[in-house]
Amino acid sequence: MGIRTTRRHRAWSSARPILMTGLLLGAVLFSPFGLAQSTGEASGQATDAPLETDPDSGFVMAEGWQTVKGNCTVCHSAALVTQNRGSREHWAYLIDWMQETQGLWQFNPEMEATILDYLSTHYGPRTDARRQNLPKHLMPPAPQASETSAEG
Ligand code: HEC
Repeated sequence: MGIRTTRRHRAWSSARPILMTGLLLGAVLFSPFGLAQSTGEASGQATDAPLETDPDSGFVMAEGWQTVKGNCTVCHSAALVTQNRGSREHWAYLIDWMQETQGLWQFNPEMEATILDYLSTHYGPRTDARRQNLPKHLMPPAPQASETSAEG
């Protein structure tokens, strides 16, 4: 009885290093794959394709664009619209202004919502409006050459 127990115990203890080696090997072998997979996902090129623009007006061809084209190119070019950017409030303000002073007609609420949705989505405020600072070598000479900082 006593001997058997000892034997069984000894068999288990000799199996343990093999188990450990297996685990270790597994970890070493598989970790590079795990790493490669996650890096691949991180650098995945899932960029949204740019929306098509109407060759005639330049409007982004998304929901509501024909309503906007039909109403907003009657008095001035579409470029006046597409060159502008603004929040929904800004566009609503411009439309109000044109209605009060430039003879723009009234829209029913649904149509106004369509126009404002479209404009604020596709011609919303720029988030990248600030250009990068010019590199030093492209800067004009500073008026006070002795000053090291051009901040002011
Ligand atoms: C009834 C005529 C008329 C219609 C229709 C019209 N506009 Fe205008 N809009 C004007 C006039 C006039 C100006 C001033 C043009 C100028 O400054 O040369 C103007 C100017 C603008 C400007 C420039 C504002 C600025 O800050 O300089 C934008 C943007 C604009 N319109 C957008 C629109 C949008 C969007 C629509 C459609 C919802 C539209 N317009 C429809 C008459 C109109």
